[in-house]
Amino acid sequence: MPRHNPAYRPSPQFDTAGRFLPSGPVPFPGTPDDWTTRDYISNMRALSRNPIEATTLISRQRPFYKTKLLGKIMTVISDPDLIRTVFVTHSDDLVLNPIRNKILVPIVGKGLLTAEGAEWKRARHMTAPVFTPRNVKGFAQHMARDMRANMGKSFKDSTEIKLGDEMLRLAYTVLSGALFSHEIDDQGESMLADISTALSHMGRPTILDIIGAPDFIPRLSKLPGKSSIKRIRAQILDVIRDRMTRRDEGHPLPEDFITLLMHDGEDGEPPLSAGEIEDQLITFIGAGHETTSRAIAWMVYLLSQDTKVRRKVETEIDALNMDSPPQDWAAALPYTMACFNETMRLYPPAPFLSRQVSTTFKTEDVDFNTGDEILLNLWALHRHENIWDEPDTFIPERFMGKAGKAIHRFAFLPFGLGPRVCIGQRFAIQEAAILIALMLRHYRFDYIGKEAPWPVMRVTTQAENGIPMKVSAR
Ligand code: HEM
Repeated sequence: MPRHNPAYRPSPQFDTAGRFLPSGPVPFPGTPDDWTTRDYISNMRALSRNPIEATTLISRQRPFYKTKLLGKIMTVISDPDLIRTVFVTHSDDLVLNPIRNKILVPIVGKGLLTAEGAEWKRARHMTAPVFTPRNVKGFAQHMARDMRANMGKSFKDSTEIKLGDEMLRLAYTVLSGALFSHEIDDQGESMLADISTALSHMGRPTILDIIGAPDFIPRLSKLPGKSSIKRIRAQILDVIRDRMTRRDEGHPLPEDFITLLMHDGEDGEPPLSAGEIEDQLITFIGAGHETTSRAIAWMVYLLSQDTKVRRKVETEIDALNMDSPPQDWAAALPYTMACFNETMRLYPPAPFLSRQVSTTFKTEDVDFNTGDEILLNLWALHRHENIWDEPDTFIPERFMGKAGKAIHRFAFLPFGLGPRVCIGQRFAIQEAAILIALMLRHYRFDYIGKEAPWPVMRVTTQAENGIPMKVSAR
């Protein structure tokens, strides 16, 4: 059996029609049943270093397969109908994966992303009003204003930048406007540094997490992240307490997430406490900041490689009338958003959805027993050979018109599915449309990296080299 080799495909590479084939890890060959101990250890190492590199070839070829991971049965599912049956029909028979929560709870606490059962139901129900179409649309003008006011600091003509870092900065500015009306922006830079430290130190499983070692054994690599989280939380809690005082004193309040989260519960349900709001806000930062900004950075990288596609996007964006910006930016930019979808197909921002079976159930072909693990690897699903033509090639047209409508509803799942589908989906799509439109209307980005950017998963899918770009004013 050929050994796993996380080799680059040579870059840049184009197919015979001139379409771009981005580089990526070579999938892990063979079937786990045939792996030697060395193969197994090599896959474990990849899982800890960069889970995308542990993706198996068979998860891109078969509807599902079962394997054993540290004594536990794990079913890896890649068939859209089976995915629907498991994640939608049997959602009540699943709980979140304990390793995932071991990573996420120390970062985001008991917010919506990590809560289970009654706690999750209350969190989902109480946070839903923030994300109604009306409230999300209400943020559009502010998003555009914040982006316009700040992008000149990130993008200067004829400069070289790390696009990944600049997108994080800009997306944080836009998100913090929506979350707390910039009331902690004095510390914007230190807050960003803390978020980045927290995610980079705490955002991936250590070998101790993977083997299920008890929590009292310290994960030394995570310690710097812990003090960052403490600082972030303290600042957020201050703003919430201040807002509650202003409300109690009858002052007018800004229309942002904090104010929207302070509503009374229905049918006598108590409102969210300051601590609960803190958990939700930090969850929205953890779940919504990196995901959106990484996806935009990948899209701009892909456009920098495919001139034809980039020109089409620019033409669409240039035609927008900025004196009266669209009500619905995404709907006004169908080709641009097809590129955004194609980017999230190739680089799903949150690539691994994992669950544990809490109640035994059966589907036509598979038995799921209590305690079994389930992995929905979006990296594999979005590049599955039976689902996608030329799965590794950047082809935005596959999301346009008839072709787009023909895509199976459960074959493209960047925002997840079922009851735990991303609550921020509408917000993220609007934010992406606005940021991309404003950036690409005013600037061009040319990739200047010596090698193609290597995708690594650190909670989100990001480029190891930060995507170096040369910026030119358009
Ligand atoms: C491109 C951007 C985004 C992507 C690709 C994305 C993706 C996802 C995915 C795949 C899930 C499901 C996880 C699972 O089932 O295990 C999820 C859940 C979640 N997302 Fe997003 N997300 C994005 C942006 C956002 C934004 C902007 C927010 C908030 C402002 C947000 C908040 C959340 C929350 C709170 C959950 C947990 C929902 C629950 O369990 O009930 N996301 N997201």
